[in-house]
Amino acid sequence: MSENPTIALIGPGAIGTTIAAALHEVGRTPTICGRTAHPQLELRQDSGKIIVPGPVLTNPAEIAQPFDLVFVAVKTTQVEDTAPWLAALCNEKTVVCALQNGVEQKSQLAPYVNGATVLPSVVWFPAQREPDASVWLREKPRLTLPETPQAERVVTALKDTRCAVDLSADFLTIAWRKLLQNAVAGLMVLSNRRAGMFQREDITALALAYLQECLTVARAEGAALKDEVPQEIVERFHRAPSDLGTSILADRQADRPLEWDIRNGVVQRYGRARGIPTPISDVIVPLLAAGSEGPG
Ligand SMILES: NC(=O)c1ccc[n+]([C@@H]2O[C@H](COP(=O)([O-])OP(=O)(O)OC[C@H]3O[C@@H](n4cnc5c(N)ncnc54)[C@H](OP(=O)(O)O)[C@@H]3O)[C@@H](O)[C@H]2O)c1
Repeated sequence: MSENPTIALIGPGAIGTTIAAALHEVGRTPTICGRTAHPQLELRQDSGKIIVPGPVLTNPAEIAQPFDLVFVAVKTTQVEDTAPWLAALCNEKTVVCALQNGVEQKSQLAPYVNGATVLPSVVWFPAQREPDASVWLREKPRLTLPETPQAERVVTALKDTRCAVDLSADFLTIAWRKLLQNAVAGLMVLSNRRAGMFQREDITALALAYLQECLTVARAEGAALKDEVPQEIVERFHRAPSDLGTSILADRQADRPLEWDIRNGVVQRYGRARGIPTPISDVIVPLLAAGSEGPG
């Protein structure tokens, strides 16, 4: 690998644009690989706008050689469609950093990356894609990655940028904590409401009961999560801006496929595999799946 690693990014949406902008600001502009052509990317936050020069490439045949570091920021429902990009961008020396929700990024991406190392991450910041494809960054960007030698490549790439990177020796626990947060945010899809809905007493009670179910499954998978976690997550929603959404709600409102399986179905799947009852998942998951895929 050269001193200046080559960096590509697949999926210049809400999260992808944020990371591309963070890299561009420090002179490490990535090669941007997308589905829709755009001349440039635009990130908006309280302190102003960042324009990332494009173009957004849309043809994997334009990639001449593998890259050192590839960020993947497509929805998990879109991974299979990115196979031609991954085939062109990756070889066994590449590090692929998944900027995606869930606890299954490694197994989802591994079949497509030509033997590259896949690093999962936890994405902690909310970013919202606007109708003109610009992105509204709503908090300071921060990622957590597992503490492995390959993660250093991501740390180096994002060093001195606006995006902080933490490494964790117990990434599994962190990833499950974020999963619990995402799973309960799925309730917003079923009510078609933003975070303000958690201020209702009945929703608070439902959220706590669902989080308790998720916590039992997470612990069975090895996550060292404390008893207080459900309460902490609900309190965080109580404090959130009332209009704060979640990417799965944005997808529902735009009638796009939902990441229901990696955010909610996973709790039901893992629970069933371990013989743990998941009565709340058994109601929520079919509704989310039907909302995503129909028929009807
Ligand atoms: N948004 C958030 O606040 C947030 C927070 C934490 C985690 N996450 C997670 O981060 C991941 C990305 O979410 P997001 O909200 O950034 O999604 P998004 O805004 O929908 O962005 C996805 C991007 O991928 C592109 N894409 C789709 N198919 C492609 C293909 N075959 N090849 C290349 N590019 C393709 C899309 O292109 P088009 O322009 O054609 O749509 C879009 O630019 C998800 O797993 C999500 O759960 C999101």
